[in-house]
Amino acid sequence: MISRRFLSRLFSGALPNHRETAYNNANTPFDFTDENYKEIERVLKKYPPQYKRSAIINLLYIAQKQCDNWVPLAAMNKIAKILELSEMDVYEVATFYTMFNREPVGKYHIQLCGTTPCMVCGAQEIKKVIEQECGILEGQTSKDGLFTLSEVECLGACVNAPMLQVNGEQIYEDLTPESMRQLIQAWRKQETPQEGPQVGRNLSEGVQGRTTLKTMPDTPKFRDFVKLKQEVEEKKKAEEEEKKKAEQSKA
Ligand code: FES
Repeated sequence: MISRRFLSRLFSGALPNHRETAYNNANTPFDFTDENYKEIERVLKKYPPQYKRSAIINLLYIAQKQCDNWVPLAAMNKIAKILELSEMDVYEVATFYTMFNREPVGKYHIQLCGTTPCMVCGAQEIKKVIEQECGILEGQTSKDGLFTLSEVECLGACVNAPMLQVNGEQIYEDLTPESMRQLIQAWRKQETPQEGPQVGRNLSEGVQGRTTLKTMPDTPKFRDFVKLKQEVEEKKKAEEEEKKKAEQSKA
């Protein structure tokens, strides 16, 4: 028998095909806000006009932010128009990169890292806590619309494993089942918990605090090699003169 967990995993994440729905089709009204048009203008200035297709990812990010963390089909079509590309050009990028959600997600889109360092440090226990507390499996959104859970590949904070990212922006690290529960409770109360390590350590410093380089080193930030060479030569000269004098006095 196929388990719920297997099915949720199978159909989670980025679907390869667009599924036509009442809220997501080519006729759904979409336009960028004035502010975002200004941002698009700023982005496009970075590229020569014949290479403006390079801005697809930037524009998808702008659309995703405007649409509460997902990119509707109509937004992709708008991007194609702005960049003078075929719609398929934009779909190809949006479906290739898993950071673009092509279906609505919860207010807190939890992207839990499941790659090896996080996995060996307890990512699966963290996942169980999220599933139990939010009543969802991977790829699902909670009934209250607050939480969506996705498992993602390494997010580059392995030294603070296990960790997760929320809405592609906020990072929470050094998670334990207890701190994970506290984070969920805080989000439920519409609070913004302190980002970063949840065990009180400073960024990626060891949990025991600093053991070396406790004070600023007493050395110049940059060495002047010309001056240094001069000093070495002068010292050598002085030593040779000293030696000469000593030999003369012996004689
Ligand atoms: S393995 Fe999880 S952040 Fe790298």
